[in-house]
Amino acid sequence: MQIVRSCSKLGLTLASILILLLGLAGVAHGRSKTRLVSSYEDEPCMKMTVYYHDILYNGSNNTANATAAAATNPTALSTAVTSNGTYFGMLVVFDDVVTAEQALSSEPVARAQGFYFYDRKEVLNAWFAFSLVFNSTAHKGTLNLMGADLMSEKTRDLSVVGGTGDFFMARGVATISADSFEGFFYFRLKMLIKLYECYV
Ligand SMILES: *[C@@H]1O[C@H](CO)[C@@H](O)[C@H](O)[C@H]1NC(C)=O
Ligand SMILES: *[C@@H]1O[C@H](CO)[C@@H](O)[C@H](O)[C@H]1NC(C)=O
Ligand SMILES: *[C@@H]1O[C@H](CO)[C@@H](O)[C@H](O)[C@H]1NC(C)=O
Repeated sequence: MQIVRSCSKLGLTLASILILLLGLAGVAHGRSKTRLVSSYEDEPCMKMTVYYHDILYNGSNNTANATAAAATNPTALSTAVTSNGTYFGMLVVFDDVVTAEQALSSEPVARAQGFYFYDRKEVLNAWFAFSLVFNSTAHKGTLNLMGADLMSEKTRDLSVVGGTGDFFMARGVATISADSFEGFFYFRLKMLIKLYECYV
């Protein structure tokens, strides 16, 4: 009981320090932001749909186009369970273009910079961690996403764990779905990003 109470006191103290620090951060940046928090799933404080294009280096001559590459060798386990030994443990690092419309040639809105790796033995299943880096007249800043890409599900949710710049301290959920899968070397994801905590 004693432990619980002192923990909650400590929690309160930490919370007040955090609030104080946040206030100071706002002052230090010379701007004060208003925190908008949405408690309803269908009423995010910001919403956008973007398309992520992953063009994986194919091992021969698409070096000019490729924006993603496997950064690991097949693991002993992947070699043991799949014939080509690519999946389990394969880590791909990417600097992929993100567009507002489906077409790869449509207007780029951000870069997706980070990695995914395949984390199941028998089938494709991945885990993602990356930043959406915005650098346009519309938006400057980053949104940071991470989570399990449960590829057998039609749609899956990644957490938006934070943000910087125009997306200062943002939090939310990005619902992703495979929009196109052209062999092993190109896929496109549709990402519906909903923020439930925004500072404006
Ligand atoms: C790509 O590489 C293959 C062999 O790896 C070669 O036959 C082909 O001519 C190359 N294509 C281009 C456009 O360089
Ligand atoms: C790799 O991509 C290049 C350019 O798109 C293509 O010419 C080549 O045939 C591809 N190689 C393989 C092994 O898929
Ligand atoms: C952002 O865009 C500006 C203007 O085009 C450019 O000078 C700058 O290098 C870009 N920054 C990044 C991180 O790409």
